Amino acid sequence: MPYRILKRKDLIPGQTILMVVDAPMIASKSRPGNFVILRVSDKGERIPLTIADADAAAGTITIVFLVVGKTTAHLATLREGEDILDVCGPLGRPTHIEKSGPVICVGGGTGIAAMHHIAKGHHQAGNRVVAVIGARNKDLLLFCDELGSFCPEVLIATDDGSRGHKGFVTELLKSRLEEDKEIAEVVAVGPVPMMEAVAKVTLPFGVKTTVSLNSIMVDGIGMCGACRCTVGGKVRFACVDGPEFDGHAVDFQELKMRLGQFRTEEKISLEKFRGQS
Ligand SMILES: Cc1cc2nc3c(=O)[nH]c(=O)nc-3n(C[C@H](O)[C@H](O)[C@H](O)COP(=O)(O)OP(=O)(O)OC[C@H]3O[C@@H](n4cnc5c(N)ncnc54)[C@H](O)[C@@H]3O)c2cc1C
Ligand code: FES
Repeated sequence: MPYRILKRKDLIPGQTILMVVDAPMIASKSRPGNFVILRVSDKGERIPLTIADADAAAGTITIVFLVVGKTTAHLATLREGEDILDVCGPLGRPTHIEKSGPVICVGGGTGIAAMHHIAKGHHQAGNRVVAVIGARNKDLLLFCDELGSFCPEVLIATDDGSRGHKGFVTELLKSRLEEDKEIAEVVAVGPVPMMEAVAKVTLPFGVKTTVSLNSIMVDGIGMCGACRCTVGGKVRFACVDGPEFDGHAVDFQELKMRLGQFRTEEKISLEKFRGQS
């Protein structure tokens, strides 16, 4: 069944793209933290993307992706009115959300879009949400207005100081945790080094810390083992046991090593695709 692209917006031209996709069945079951696995062509690979938003009434889901390799480059060629070949979901365990107290949601780069859905879920559950977002510069920040519409505070960090704090999200997070002893949980979605750094910052404060792992996935239903990771010394499959885990228990070194295992093939695949297109 093809999935029509109803809206397409280049959030960062040529780099980060938002698509609103007609997917009524997925939208009706989607919860914050879920993801989809899609294929762009019948000979292409399956890639996981987080559901950045879902509208059950409109029957749509929103995906936001960074163009990093062959499949995301291929997806980026699709325009409004065209179809994605197949979209499977919602997959993964939804975020555990309950009325727990104030939550800090940290997002980095494209991870801000995924974090936005989780932050919205916490807000709807009655938790005060402080958003902490970061990017290399102000032009790469995403979802500032959307987060501002329900978060009483949106703290911004940019590497070059072009907007907000000059530096990293972890510096903002640390000072916020020093000031506010009531924080019940910190949720982090973004590049692996950022999530690892967030977990290091929160550890001495003893604050529950949830990270969303972006392991390589193939089937997304716990059968292939591609997304294997180690959490608290135990083997976990990010697609069915996660993708969210206790950030203090994740073996980030192993995750980074496994993420890079097909780098040569990925480079060749992208070069071939660029040569053909
Ligand atoms: C649960 C989950 C949710 C994700 N959500 C988003 C999102 O919302 N937006 C976004 O931009 N990216 C997201 N990602 C990452 C996204 O899946 C990869 O960027 C994408 O698969 C890259 O494919 P490619 O062919 O374009 O690049 P490639 O050149 O094939 O790969 C580039 C890098 O992407 C990663 N990657 C490659 N293939 C896969 C795969 N099958 N599964 C997972 N990672 C892979 C590897 O680290 C690889 O080095 C998510 C990953 C997971 C596991
Ligand atoms: S993607 Fe195959 S087991 Fe998780």
